[in-house]
Amino acid sequence: MEEFVTLTYNGQEIKLPVVIGTEGEKAIDISTLRQDTGFITLDPGYANTGSCLSAITYMDGEKGILRYRGIPVEQLAAHATFKETAYLLINGKLPNREQLTHFSVMLNDNSLVHEDLRTFFQSFPRASHPMGILSAMVNALRSFYPELGSTEEEINITMTRLLAKVRTMAAMSYKISRGHKVIYPRPDMTYCENFLNMMFDTPVKPYEINRAAVNALRVFWILHADHEQNCSTSAVRVVGSARVNLYAAISSGIAALWGPLHGGANQAVIEMLSTIQADGGDPIKAIEKAKDKNDPFRLMGFGHRVYKTYDPRAKIMKKMCDELLETMQIDDPLLDIAKELEEVARKDSYFIDHNLYPNIDFYSGIVLRAVGIPTNMFTVMFAIGRLPGWIAQWKESMDDPKWKICRPRQVYTGNQEYEFVPIHARI
Ligand code: ACO
Repeated sequence: MEEFVTLTYNGQEIKLPVVIGTEGEKAIDISTLRQDTGFITLDPGYANTGSCLSAITYMDGEKGILRYRGIPVEQLAAHATFKETAYLLINGKLPNREQLTHFSVMLNDNSLVHEDLRTFFQSFPRASHPMGILSAMVNALRSFYPELGSTEEEINITMTRLLAKVRTMAAMSYKISRGHKVIYPRPDMTYCENFLNMMFDTPVKPYEINRAAVNALRVFWILHADHEQNCSTSAVRVVGSARVNLYAAISSGIAALWGPLHGGANQAVIEMLSTIQADGGDPIKAIEKAKDKNDPFRLMGFGHRVYKTYDPRAKIMKKMCDELLETMQIDDPLLDIAKELEEVARKDSYFIDHNLYPNIDFYSGIVLRAVGIPTNMFTVMFAIGRLPGWIAQWKESMDDPKWKICRPRQVYTGNQEYEFVPIHARI
């Protein structure tokens, strides 16, 4: 039976339909509110606004639950490959053997990038941030691969092309930034092995596959693969709603992810931990600074719009971080500082009262350091991981006949109408 809520204003009653999701999440459908009443809703930062119906990812911020297409992220991190996870997100179900083989062949066949893209890389100033380069490069793919197609098969090729090429472009940008020879992708390697090989193989020192590093990268990418309607995913959906091509929509997601309040936090955490270390290693100072309302500093890697308990991804990341450093016999002083910082923060009433827990970015930078990824590439690593989620969300919105161009309203607070005054008469 359909449920409604009733809104009463000045004696007028308006019935608004209630929408209930498969996990019992409730929403009020206000899409006819303006037409029925002249009112709009006001929700800065969309903290309480559902922008769409989605069957991709479920998260419960109070209970610390995250599932892709119904499967708990803990199970995927323990057993799945990144490729299977990407397939699951984009296609809605796990692939069978034949589907997985076909997907792997398509990824390999599309993994090379146009050689002319190298000149594109080389024209960026040396100090450019890799996220700026990646966003521009992904947008440029539209010019290098103009055939986007409209049939399901053609759209599948565009999506796979993007998944395959972003990984190659990321490794290529690292090699070019170091002035080293570019290493091409190899069809005999897994998705994760291939990336590490393209990053670290050199003509003088061939890359030897390190199982612990490959596994860490697999888990890292799976944990980042989707997170429902976050800032960058919303950017992809909003930009996509204007019916731009997939590359342009994803390029906008990369730009949004770059921000330190979002994906850029993984780089910011390492920079913060390094500053604390250089400053004598005392976490209390950083905690006090983060609590000071006159200081813009925030504890990076802490807090989340949705999670009001421990981020389930951060739990897995922290455990993996410990195991990885032990297996690789790495002693990273930043891990000790991070743990101390977490311990102090979690006992502090400000952090308790504000429900501020470590998020995925708090320990992920230490994992990436152990794998050998340079700090300025951390957010690029996040972007490669998030790509299947962005693609799945873009596809879902494009397949949704109700997905209109995104165009929020506002409440105007500026001047009321007044007359233009010619320059000679202005005081
Ligand atoms: N350190 C100190 N105080 C914080 C922090 C923090 N990391 N995060 C939130 N707060 C405080 C705010 O000052 C505010 O306090 P007040 O209510 O007393 O004024 C309160 O907690 C609520 O904060 P908001 O900014 O309103 O919460 P919002 O949901 O908008 O922001 C965000 C979430 C951006 C993640 C925030 O917690 C933050 O800036 N964290 C640090 C950056 C970070 O780690 N980002 C990665 C997020 S995960 C991801 O995107 C992959």
